Amino acid sequence: MTTQQDDISTPESNAPVRDAASTQPGAMEVKRRRAVKHKARAQFDSWAHTYDRSIVQHLLFQPSYRLFMQELYRWRKDMSAPFDLLDIGAGTGTWTAMVAGSPLPSRRVVGLDYSKNMCQAAHRKAAEVGAGAPGFINGDAEHLPFEDGSFDVVTCSNSFHHYPHQQAAIIEMRRILRPEGRLMLIDGFRDNVIGWTVFDFFITRAESTPTAKVFHAPWSQMRSYFEHAGFREVRQRKSGIWAPIFITMGVV
Ligand SMILES: C[S@@+](CC[C@H](N)C(=O)[O-])C[C@H]1O[C@@H](n2cnc3c(N)ncnc32)[C@H](O)[C@@H]1O
Repeated sequence: MTTQQDDISTPESNAPVRDAASTQPGAMEVKRRRAVKHKARAQFDSWAHTYDRSIVQHLLFQPSYRLFMQELYRWRKDMSAPFDLLDIGAGTGTWTAMVAGSPLPSRRVVGLDYSKNMCQAAHRKAAEVGAGAPGFINGDAEHLPFEDGSFDVVTCSNSFHHYPHQQAAIIEMRRILRPEGRLMLIDGFRDNVIGWTVFDFFITRAESTPTAKVFHAPWSQMRSYFEHAGFREVRQRKSGIWAPIFITMGVV
């Protein structure tokens, strides 16, 4: 079985590991990665119109935004300097609208998503925020259309298990962060019985096809992705019982 970790090399130092992203994949692997992305786009293009009314909002998505907000406040509450935030796999833009509408001194808030319909829904929501509203870009987490060091914080919730080359995505996220910038990433916690049942069994079955499987990275593997990409002070926290999630944070 091909695992997500197959092309991770172990760095001697904490420097970004660009070779893991640039290793040339074989034709089968290229095909697999393309299939996973196409599947995600189709799934979310068709879900975009009802996404905000889904039961999963209460179980998973809203708790994720609250967790992000707690961590963002903890970090920025005593800092008056404005910050630029990118949310990857932004969905309908609820989290970015929360940031832009919060008292925190956000300057530039951007959401990026692979699904065009999700981006359109996010644009409509942003129009309600008014001044300082987030902007949205249709794009792929593995190929971020930003210069090195463009943001102070990158967030990503409930999206990462759809990425077919997870290490490459983390390396890309680190690339666009400024020194002292932070990555905060939330996904399903599958390292206990409840989490395994919810994420490895039900959600993975619901969201995968035989050729396009999603993958919830275990706690330790997520940590190793961050460390291999060159993040320091990597910290993790689990939250929730019946639909457990975990956040992994790293500093550039
Ligand atoms: C379950 S939604 C999560 C949305 C939002 N972050 C939240 O927590 O409500 C997953 C999102 O990830 C997006 N996505 C999947 N693969 C992606 C990729 N390769 N690059 C960027 N976004 C992707 C999907 O289009 C979808 O909008």
